[in-house]
Amino acid sequence: MVKVITYGTFDLFHEGHYRLLQRAKQLGDYLIVGVTTEEYDQTRGKLNVIDSLVTRIENVKKTGFADEVIVEEAAGQKFQDIKKYHIDIFTVGSDWIGKFDYLKDYCKVVYLERTKNISSTMLRERNKRIQRIGIIGTGRIAKRFMPEAACVSGISVQGVYNPHIGSAESFAKNHDIDCYETLDDFFSAVDAVYIASPHQTHYEYAKAALEHGKHVLCEKPMTLDRRHAEQLFNMAKERNLILFEGIKTAYCPGFIKLMGIACSGAIGSIKSVEACFTKLEDEDSRELTDLKYGGSMLELGSYCLLPIIKILGADYERLSFDTVKGDNNLDILTKAYFKYPNAVATATCGLGVKSEGQLIISGTKGYILAEAPWWKTNYFEVRHENPDDVEKFSARFLGDGLRYEISDFLSMINGSAKSEFKLTRSESVAFADIMGKFLETEKRNLDENLGA
Ligand code: CTP
Repeated sequence: MVKVITYGTFDLFHEGHYRLLQRAKQLGDYLIVGVTTEEYDQTRGKLNVIDSLVTRIENVKKTGFADEVIVEEAAGQKFQDIKKYHIDIFTVGSDWIGKFDYLKDYCKVVYLERTKNISSTMLRERNKRIQRIGIIGTGRIAKRFMPEAACVSGISVQGVYNPHIGSAESFAKNHDIDCYETLDDFFSAVDAVYIASPHQTHYEYAKAALEHGKHVLCEKPMTLDRRHAEQLFNMAKERNLILFEGIKTAYCPGFIKLMGIACSGAIGSIKSVEACFTKLEDEDSRELTDLKYGGSMLELGSYCLLPIIKILGADYERLSFDTVKGDNNLDILTKAYFKYPNAVATATCGLGVKSEGQLIISGTKGYILAEAPWWKTNYFEVRHENPDDVEKFSARFLGDGLRYEISDFLSMINGSAKSEFKLTRSESVAFADIMGKFLETEKRNLDENLGA
Protein backbone atom coordinates (compact mmCIF):
# COMPACT_ATOMS: atom_id res chain seq x y z
CA MET A 1 0.00 0.00 0.00
CA VAL A 2 1.41 3.42 -0.99
CA LYS A 3 0.88 5.97 1.77
CA VAL A 4 0.74 9.67 0.88
CA ILE A 5 0.75 12.66 3.23
CA THR A 6 0.00 16.34 2.62
CA TYR A 7 -0.45 19.38 4.85
CA GLY A 8 -2.22 22.71 4.75
CA THR A 9 -4.37 25.25 6.53
CA PHE A 10 -7.34 24.74 4.19
CA ASP A 11 -8.97 27.99 5.26
CA LEU A 12 -12.14 28.99 3.35
CA PHE A 13 -11.90 25.68 1.48
CA HIS A 14 -11.60 26.32 -2.24
CA GLU A 15 -11.12 24.63 -5.59
CA GLY A 16 -7.31 24.79 -5.28
CA HIS A 17 -7.52 22.72 -2.08
CA TYR A 18 -9.96 20.25 -3.66
CA ARG A 19 -7.77 19.66 -6.70
CA LEU A 20 -4.65 19.32 -4.56
CA LEU A 21 -6.29 16.64 -2.38
CA GLN A 22 -7.74 14.85 -5.40
CA ARG A 23 -4.32 14.56 -7.04
CA ALA A 24 -2.61 13.71 -3.74
CA LYS A 25 -4.99 10.80 -3.31
CA GLN A 26 -4.27 9.61 -6.87
CA LEU A 27 -0.55 9.37 -6.02
CA GLY A 28 -1.16 6.35 -3.79
CA ASP A 29 -3.64 4.16 -1.92
CA TYR A 30 -3.98 5.89 1.43
CA LEU A 31 -4.00 9.67 1.99
CA ILE A 32 -3.24 11.37 5.31
CA VAL A 33 -3.99 15.10 5.50
CA GLY A 34 -2.39 17.26 8.18
CA VAL A 35 -4.42 20.35 9.06
CA THR A 36 -2.62 23.14 10.93
CA THR A 37 -3.70 24.48 14.30
CA GLU A 38 -4.44 28.16 14.71
CA GLU A 39 -1.47 28.47 17.03
CA TYR A 40 0.94 26.92 14.55
CA ASP A 41 -0.37 29.19 11.81
CA GLN A 42 0.22 32.18 14.04
CA THR A 43 3.80 31.17 14.71
CA ARG A 44 4.47 30.96 10.98
CA GLY A 45 2.96 34.37 10.43
CA LYS A 46 -0.50 33.42 9.13
CA LEU A 47 -2.59 35.62 11.35
CA ASN A 48 -5.94 35.94 9.66
CA VAL A 49 -7.21 32.39 9.33
CA ILE A 50 -10.99 32.60 9.47
CA ASP A 51 -12.32 29.04 9.77
CA SER A 52 -11.86 27.14 13.02
CA LEU A 53 -9.73 24.00 13.07
CA VAL A 54 -12.89 21.88 13.32
CA THR A 55 -14.44 23.51 10.25
CA ARG A 56 -11.22 23.15 8.27
CA ILE A 57 -10.97 19.46 9.18
CA GLU A 58 -14.63 18.90 8.28
CA ASN A 59 -14.11 20.53 4.89
CA VAL A 60 -11.13 18.29 4.16
CA LYS A 61 -13.15 15.22 5.22
CA LYS A 62 -16.12 16.23 3.05
CA THR A 63 -14.02 15.83 -0.10
CA GLY A 64 -13.88 12.09 0.58
CA PHE A 65 -10.19 12.00 -0.47
CA ALA A 66 -8.65 11.85 2.99
CA ASP A 67 -8.41 8.40 4.58
CA GLU A 68 -7.12 10.00 7.76
CA VAL A 69 -6.89 13.55 9.05
CA ILE A 70 -4.27 14.59 11.59
CA VAL A 71 -3.49 17.91 13.21
CA GLU A 72 -0.21 19.69 12.50
CA GLU A 73 0.85 21.54 15.61
CA ALA A 74 4.46 22.55 15.17
CA ALA A 75 7.38 22.93 12.84
CA GLY A 76 9.37 19.70 12.65
CA GLN A 77 6.30 17.51 12.93
CA LYS A 78 6.39 16.50 9.25
CA PHE A 79 9.57 14.49 9.71
CA GLN A 80 8.09 12.64 12.69
CA ASP A 81 4.80 11.95 10.88
CA ILE A 82 6.63 10.49 7.88
CA LYS A 83 8.37 8.01 10.19
CA LYS A 84 5.37 7.38 12.41
CA TYR A 85 2.88 6.69 9.60
CA HIS A 86 5.42 4.92 7.29
CA ILE A 87 4.84 7.46 4.53
CA ASP A 88 5.98 6.76 0.95
CA ILE A 89 5.13 10.10 -0.65
CA PHE A 90 5.02 13.61 0.75
CA THR A 91 3.19 16.12 -1.45
CA VAL A 92 2.24 19.81 -1.43
CA GLY A 93 1.50 22.49 -4.00
CA SER A 94 4.10 24.01 -6.28
CA ASP A 95 4.19 27.23 -4.23
CA TRP A 96 6.45 25.21 -1.90
CA ILE A 97 8.90 23.95 -4.55
CA GLY A 98 12.27 23.21 -2.96
CA LYS A 99 11.11 23.94 0.58
CA PHE A 100 10.60 20.29 1.49
CA ASP A 101 13.50 18.75 -0.40
CA TYR A 102 15.05 17.92 2.98
CA LEU A 103 12.40 15.21 3.35
CA LYS A 104 13.74 13.40 0.27
CA ASP A 105 16.02 11.34 2.50
CA TYR A 106 12.95 9.75 4.08
CA CYS A 107 10.32 9.48 1.34
CA LYS A 108 9.50 10.68 -2.18
CA VAL A 109 8.64 14.40 -2.39
CA VAL A 110 6.16 15.51 -5.08
CA TYR A 111 5.22 19.14 -5.76
CA LEU A 112 1.82 19.28 -7.47
CA GLU A 113 1.05 22.21 -9.72
CA ARG A 114 -0.86 24.85 -7.83
CA THR A 115 -4.30 25.81 -9.18
CA LYS A 116 -4.05 29.27 -10.65
CA ASN A 117 -5.89 32.39 -9.49
CA ILE A 118 -7.27 31.11 -6.22
CA SER A 119 -5.98 31.15 -2.64
CA SER A 120 -7.35 31.53 0.87
CA THR A 121 -5.62 34.90 1.07
CA MET A 122 -7.49 36.06 -2.05
CA LEU A 123 -10.79 34.86 -0.64
CA ARG A 124 -10.18 36.46 2.74
CA GLU A 125 -9.49 39.75 1.02
CA ARG A 126 -12.40 39.42 -1.39
CA ASN A 127 -14.89 38.49 1.33
CA LYS A 128 -13.94 41.40 3.51
CA ARG A 129 -13.42 44.86 2.18
CA ILE A 130 -9.88 46.07 2.87
CA GLN A 131 -9.98 48.29 5.93
CA ARG A 132 -8.24 51.59 5.38
CA ILE A 133 -6.51 52.65 8.56
CA GLY A 134 -5.17 56.09 9.37
CA ILE A 135 -2.51 56.89 11.95
CA ILE A 136 -2.67 59.82 14.33
CA GLY A 137 0.83 60.69 15.45
CA THR A 138 4.18 60.31 13.79
CA GLY A 139 6.48 59.23 16.61
CA ARG A 140 8.40 56.05 17.28
CA ILE A 141 5.39 53.80 17.73
CA ALA A 142 3.71 55.10 14.59
CA LYS A 143 6.86 54.16 12.65
CA ARG A 144 6.81 50.69 14.15
CA PHE A 145 3.18 50.27 13.14
CA MET A 146 3.95 50.47 9.42
CA PRO A 147 5.90 47.22 8.87
CA GLU A 148 3.68 45.42 11.38
CA ALA A 149 0.46 46.43 9.58
CA ALA A 150 2.01 45.19 6.35
CA CYS A 151 2.07 41.66 7.85
CA VAL A 152 -1.70 41.61 8.28
CA SER A 153 -3.80 40.93 5.20
CA GLY A 154 -7.04 42.90 4.90
CA ILE A 155 -5.76 46.20 6.21
CA SER A 156 -3.96 49.01 4.45
CA VAL A 157 -2.46 52.14 5.93
CA GLN A 158 -4.09 55.01 4.10
CA GLY A 159 -2.63 58.08 5.68
CA VAL A 160 -1.40 60.00 8.67
CA TYR A 161 -2.47 63.00 10.68
CA ASN A 162 -0.42 65.23 12.93
CA PRO A 163 -1.39 68.82 13.77
CA HIS A 164 2.27 69.64 13.03
CA ILE A 165 1.79 69.30 9.31
CA GLY A 166 5.56 69.21 8.63
CA SER A 167 5.90 65.99 10.68
CA ALA A 168 2.88 64.46 8.94
CA GLU A 169 4.28 65.36 5.52
CA SER A 170 7.66 63.82 6.14
CA PHE A 171 6.12 60.67 7.71
CA ALA A 172 3.76 60.35 4.72
CA LYS A 173 6.63 60.80 2.28
CA ASN A 174 8.83 58.24 4.03
CA HIS A 175 6.07 55.65 4.07
CA ASP A 176 4.38 56.47 0.79
CA ILE A 177 0.98 57.24 2.31
CA ASP A 178 -1.25 60.33 2.33
CA CYS A 179 -1.35 63.12 4.86
CA TYR A 180 -4.17 65.51 5.67
CA GLU A 181 -4.37 69.09 6.83
CA THR A 182 -7.55 68.71 8.83
CA LEU A 183 -8.93 65.98 11.04
CA ASP A 184 -12.16 66.01 9.02
CA ASP A 185 -10.28 65.24 5.81
CA PHE A 186 -8.35 62.54 7.60
CA PHE A 187 -11.45 60.86 9.04
CA SER A 188 -13.27 60.93 5.73
CA ALA A 189 -10.42 59.01 4.06
CA VAL A 190 -10.26 56.10 6.53
CA ASP A 191 -12.36 53.32 8.07
CA ALA A 192 -10.34 52.94 11.24
CA VAL A 193 -7.85 54.92 13.24
CA TYR A 194 -4.69 54.02 15.13
CA ILE A 195 -3.99 56.60 17.81
CA ALA A 196 -0.28 56.87 18.56
CA SER A 197 -0.18 60.47 19.78
CA PRO A 198 0.92 61.65 23.27
CA HIS A 199 -1.09 60.04 26.12
CA GLN A 200 -3.10 63.12 27.10
CA THR A 201 -4.47 63.51 23.55
CA HIS A 202 -5.83 59.95 23.26
CA TYR A 203 -9.23 60.69 24.71
CA GLU A 204 -10.07 63.64 22.44
CA TYR A 205 -8.84 61.87 19.32
CA ALA A 206 -10.65 58.65 20.17
CA LYS A 207 -13.85 60.56 20.87
CA ALA A 208 -13.60 62.47 17.58
CA ALA A 209 -12.88 59.25 15.65
CA LEU A 210 -15.89 57.48 17.17
CA GLU A 211 -18.08 60.51 16.45
CA HIS A 212 -16.98 60.22 12.82
CA GLY A 213 -17.98 56.54 12.80
CA LYS A 214 -14.43 55.15 12.80
CA HIS A 215 -13.12 52.09 14.62
CA VAL A 216 -10.33 52.92 17.04
CA LEU A 217 -7.14 51.14 18.03
CA CYS A 218 -5.65 53.35 20.72
CA GLU A 219 -2.16 53.11 22.19
CA LYS A 220 -1.86 52.58 25.92
CA PRO A 221 -2.77 54.13 28.26
CA MET A 222 -6.01 54.65 26.37
CA THR A 223 -7.18 57.32 28.80
CA LEU A 224 -5.98 58.68 32.12
CA ASP A 225 -9.39 58.70 33.75
CA ARG A 226 -11.99 56.00 34.34
CA ARG A 227 -14.93 58.16 33.22
CA HIS A 228 -13.27 58.90 29.91
CA ALA A 229 -12.64 55.22 29.24
CA GLU A 230 -16.24 54.33 30.11
CA GLN A 231 -17.57 57.10 27.94
CA LEU A 232 -15.51 55.99 24.94
CA PHE A 233 -16.58 52.36 25.32
CA ASN A 234 -20.23 53.44 25.58
CA MET A 235 -19.89 55.58 22.46
CA ALA A 236 -18.31 52.67 20.57
CA LYS A 237 -21.08 50.31 21.67
CA GLU A 238 -23.88 52.72 20.70
CA ARG A 239 -22.33 53.19 17.28
CA ASN A 240 -21.43 49.55 16.72
CA LEU A 241 -17.76 50.38 16.44
CA ILE A 242 -14.69 48.59 17.74
CA LEU A 243 -12.59 50.33 20.38
CA PHE A 244 -9.39 48.53 21.29
CA GLU A 245 -6.62 49.46 23.70
CA GLY A 246 -3.29 48.60 22.12
CA ILE A 247 -1.34 46.81 24.83
CA LYS A 248 0.55 44.49 22.51
CA THR A 249 1.40 41.98 25.26
CA ALA A 250 -2.29 41.15 25.69
CA TYR A 251 -2.56 39.87 22.13
CA CYS A 252 0.69 37.98 21.73
CA PRO A 253 0.44 34.18 21.64
CA GLY A 254 3.03 33.58 24.40
CA PHE A 255 1.27 35.80 26.91
CA ILE A 256 -2.09 34.21 26.13
CA LYS A 257 -0.53 30.80 26.73
CA LEU A 258 0.97 32.06 30.00
CA MET A 259 -2.42 33.36 31.16
CA GLY A 260 -4.03 30.05 30.27
CA ILE A 261 -1.51 28.11 32.31
CA ALA A 262 -1.66 30.54 35.24
CA CYS A 263 -5.41 30.10 35.40
CA SER A 264 -5.33 26.31 34.88
CA GLY A 265 -4.48 25.46 38.48
CA ALA A 266 -0.92 24.44 37.51
CA ILE A 267 0.48 26.63 40.31
CA GLY A 268 -2.51 26.22 42.62
CA SER A 269 -4.41 29.22 43.84
CA ILE A 270 -2.68 32.46 42.82
CA LYS A 271 -1.66 34.67 45.73
CA SER A 272 0.84 37.09 44.30
CA VAL A 273 1.71 38.78 41.01
CA GLU A 274 4.90 40.81 40.67
CA ALA A 275 5.50 42.55 37.37
CA CYS A 276 8.53 44.69 36.64
CA PHE A 277 9.43 46.58 33.46
CA THR A 278 12.28 49.07 33.28
CA LYS A 279 13.71 50.79 30.25
CA LEU A 280 16.34 53.48 30.63
CA GLU A 281 15.48 56.57 28.62
CA ASP A 282 17.60 59.60 27.74
CA GLU A 283 17.27 62.38 30.28
CA ASP A 284 16.08 64.73 27.55
CA SER A 285 13.55 62.31 26.05
CA ARG A 286 9.87 63.26 25.97
CA GLU A 287 9.19 60.50 28.49
CA LEU A 288 11.48 62.12 31.06
CA THR A 289 10.81 65.78 30.30
CA ASP A 290 7.04 66.05 29.83
CA LEU A 291 6.33 67.23 33.36
CA LYS A 292 2.62 66.58 33.18
CA TYR A 293 2.32 63.35 31.24
CA GLY A 294 5.80 61.86 31.24
CA GLY A 295 7.27 59.51 33.81
CA SER A 296 7.57 55.79 34.36
CA MET A 297 4.04 54.90 35.43
CA LEU A 298 2.24 56.50 32.51
CA GLU A 299 4.79 55.19 30.05
CA LEU A 300 5.25 51.60 31.20
CA GLY A 301 2.55 51.01 33.82
CA SER A 302 0.04 49.47 31.39
CA TYR A 303 2.33 46.49 30.76
CA CYS A 304 2.75 45.73 34.46
CA LEU A 305 -0.91 46.26 35.30
CA LEU A 306 -1.98 43.85 32.56
CA PRO A 307 -1.11 40.51 34.28
CA ILE A 308 -2.19 41.85 37.67
CA ILE A 309 -5.68 42.89 36.61
CA LYS A 310 -6.12 39.91 34.27
CA ILE A 311 -5.28 37.43 37.02
CA LEU A 312 -6.48 39.05 40.24
CA GLY A 313 -9.20 41.32 38.84
CA ALA A 314 -10.02 44.94 39.63
CA ASP A 315 -11.66 44.39 43.02
CA TYR A 316 -8.60 45.16 45.08
CA GLU A 317 -9.06 46.46 48.63
CA ARG A 318 -6.17 48.88 48.60
CA LEU A 319 -3.90 50.49 46.04
CA SER A 320 -0.93 52.69 46.85
CA PHE A 321 2.04 54.09 44.97
CA ASP A 322 5.61 54.88 45.91
CA THR A 323 7.73 56.89 43.53
CA VAL A 324 11.33 57.92 43.21
CA LYS A 325 11.69 61.27 41.49
CA GLY A 326 14.27 62.71 39.11
CA ASP A 327 15.54 66.30 39.40
CA ASN A 328 12.50 67.62 37.52
CA ASN A 329 10.14 65.77 39.90
CA LEU A 330 9.01 63.17 37.35
CA ASP A 331 8.84 59.57 38.55
CA ILE A 332 11.91 57.71 37.36
CA LEU A 333 10.72 54.65 39.31
CA THR A 334 7.23 53.78 40.51
CA LYS A 335 5.93 50.89 42.53
CA ALA A 336 2.20 50.29 42.69
CA TYR A 337 1.05 47.97 45.50
CA PHE A 338 -2.25 46.14 45.37
CA LYS A 339 -3.89 44.40 48.31
CA TYR A 340 -6.66 41.95 47.45
CA PRO A 341 -8.78 40.04 50.00
CA ASN A 342 -6.45 37.06 49.69
CA ALA A 343 -3.61 38.10 47.41
CA VAL A 344 -1.09 40.86 46.77
CA ALA A 345 0.51 42.36 43.69
CA THR A 346 3.18 44.88 42.75
CA ALA A 347 3.81 46.71 39.51
CA THR A 348 7.30 48.20 39.21
CA CYS A 349 8.23 50.44 36.31
CA GLY A 350 11.25 52.58 35.73
CA LEU A 351 12.53 54.90 33.04
CA GLY A 352 15.45 56.17 35.12
CA VAL A 353 16.23 53.09 37.23
CA LYS A 354 17.25 49.72 35.80
CA SER A 355 16.13 46.49 37.39
CA GLU A 356 15.46 42.84 36.56
CA GLY A 357 12.33 42.90 34.41
CA GLN A 358 10.42 39.85 35.51
CA LEU A 359 6.90 38.62 35.80
CA ILE A 360 6.42 36.25 38.74
CA ILE A 361 3.03 34.73 39.40
CA SER A 362 3.03 32.83 42.68
CA GLY A 363 0.53 30.24 43.77
CA THR A 364 -0.01 27.69 46.51
CA LYS A 365 1.60 24.92 44.42
CA GLY A 366 4.29 26.72 42.47
CA TYR A 367 5.08 29.81 40.46
CA ILE A 368 5.44 31.04 36.91
CA LEU A 369 8.56 32.94 35.99
CA ALA A 370 8.75 34.94 32.78
CA GLU A 371 11.96 36.87 32.37
CA ALA A 372 12.49 40.09 30.44
CA PRO A 373 11.20 40.81 27.92
CA TRP A 374 8.11 39.09 29.35
CA TRP A 375 6.01 41.86 27.75
CA LYS A 376 6.96 40.19 24.45
CA THR A 377 6.42 36.75 25.96
CA ASN A 378 8.27 34.04 24.10
CA TYR A 379 9.38 31.87 27.00
CA PHE A 380 8.34 31.11 30.58
CA GLU A 381 8.76 28.42 33.19
CA VAL A 382 6.44 26.83 35.70
CA ARG A 383 8.45 25.99 38.80
CA HIS A 384 7.65 24.05 41.96
CA GLU A 385 9.11 23.35 45.41
CA ASN A 386 11.34 20.68 43.92
CA PRO A 387 13.83 22.69 41.83
CA ASP A 388 14.04 19.85 39.29
CA ASP A 389 10.32 20.04 38.66
CA VAL A 390 10.37 22.75 35.97
CA GLU A 391 8.08 22.92 32.96
CA LYS A 392 9.29 25.09 30.11
CA PHE A 393 7.01 26.80 27.62
CA SER A 394 7.89 28.77 24.56
CA ALA A 395 6.02 30.60 21.83
CA ARG A 396 7.15 32.64 18.89
CA PHE A 397 6.92 36.40 19.04
CA LEU A 398 7.23 37.84 15.56
CA GLY A 399 8.64 41.28 14.75
CA ASP A 400 7.58 44.02 17.10
CA GLY A 401 4.45 42.13 18.06
CA LEU A 402 2.01 44.84 16.99
CA ARG A 403 0.83 42.53 14.21
CA TYR A 404 -1.08 40.42 16.74
CA GLU A 405 -3.18 43.30 18.04
CA ILE A 406 -3.69 44.68 14.51
CA SER A 407 -4.87 41.27 13.35
CA ASP A 408 -7.28 40.93 16.29
CA PHE A 409 -8.52 44.48 15.76
CA LEU A 410 -9.22 43.63 12.13
CA SER A 411 -11.04 40.41 12.90
CA MET A 412 -13.21 42.23 15.46
CA ILE A 413 -14.06 44.84 12.80
CA ASN A 414 -14.95 41.96 10.49
CA GLY A 415 -17.43 40.62 13.01
CA SER A 416 -15.52 37.96 14.94
CA ALA A 417 -15.62 38.33 18.72
CA LYS A 418 -13.17 35.53 19.39
CA SER A 419 -10.34 37.80 20.53
CA GLU A 420 -12.46 39.95 22.82
CA PHE A 421 -11.29 38.05 25.91
CA LYS A 422 -7.66 39.04 25.36
CA LEU A 423 -8.22 42.54 26.71
CA THR A 424 -11.72 43.24 27.89
CA ARG A 425 -13.50 46.52 28.17
CA SER A 426 -13.61 46.27 31.97
CA GLU A 427 -9.86 45.58 32.11
CA SER A 428 -9.15 48.69 30.03
CA VAL A 429 -11.45 50.71 32.28
CA ALA A 430 -9.57 49.39 35.33
CA PHE A 431 -6.24 50.50 33.81
CA ALA A 432 -7.63 53.99 33.13
CA ASP A 433 -8.92 54.11 36.72
CA ILE A 434 -5.48 53.18 38.11
CA MET A 435 -3.73 55.77 35.92
CA GLY A 436 -6.25 58.36 37.16
CA LYS A 437 -5.56 57.38 40.79
CA PHE A 438 -1.83 57.62 40.17
CA LEU A 439 -2.14 61.14 38.74
CA GLU A 440 -4.34 62.19 41.67
CA THR A 441 -1.80 60.84 44.18
CA GLU A 442 1.01 62.62 42.39
CA LYS A 443 -0.91 65.88 42.40
CA ARG A 444 -1.79 65.53 46.09
CA ASN A 445 1.85 64.84 46.98
CA LEU A 446 2.96 67.86 44.97
CA ASP A 447 0.37 70.11 46.66
CA GLU A 448 1.40 68.83 50.09
CA ASN A 449 5.07 69.45 49.33
CA LEU A 450 4.33 72.94 48.08
CA GLY A 451 2.16 73.64 51.14
CA ALA A 452 4.79 72.29 53.53
N1 CTP B 1 -2.99 24.88 -3.08
C1 CTP B 1 -3.09 24.65 -4.44
N2 CTP B 1 -3.63 25.59 -5.25
C2 CTP B 1 -4.09 26.76 -4.74
C3 CTP B 1 -4.03 27.01 -3.36
C4 CTP B 1 -3.46 26.04 -2.54
O1 CTP B 1 -2.66 23.61 -4.92
N3 CTP B 1 -4.59 27.65 -5.56
C5 CTP B 1 -2.36 23.89 -2.21
C6 CTP B 1 -1.15 24.40 -1.46
O2 CTP B 1 0.00 24.40 -2.27
C7 CTP B 1 -1.05 23.42 -0.30
C8 CTP B 1 -2.53 23.11 -0.01
O3 CTP B 1 -3.28 23.52 -1.18
O4 CTP B 1 -0.41 22.25 -0.73
C9 CTP B 1 -3.04 23.83 1.21
O5 CTP B 1 -2.69 25.18 1.04
P1 CTP B 1 -3.11 26.38 1.98
O6 CTP B 1 -1.87 27.10 2.37
O7 CTP B 1 -4.03 25.93 3.02
O8 CTP B 1 -3.95 27.26 0.91
P2 CTP B 1 -3.70 28.69 0.30
O9 CTP B 1 -4.89 29.03 -0.52
O10 CTP B 1 -2.38 28.73 -0.41
O11 CTP B 1 -3.68 29.57 1.62
P3 CTP B 1 -3.05 31.02 1.93
O12 CTP B 1 -3.53 31.95 0.89
O13 CTP B 1 -3.55 31.33 3.32
O14 CTP B 1 -1.55 30.83 1.91
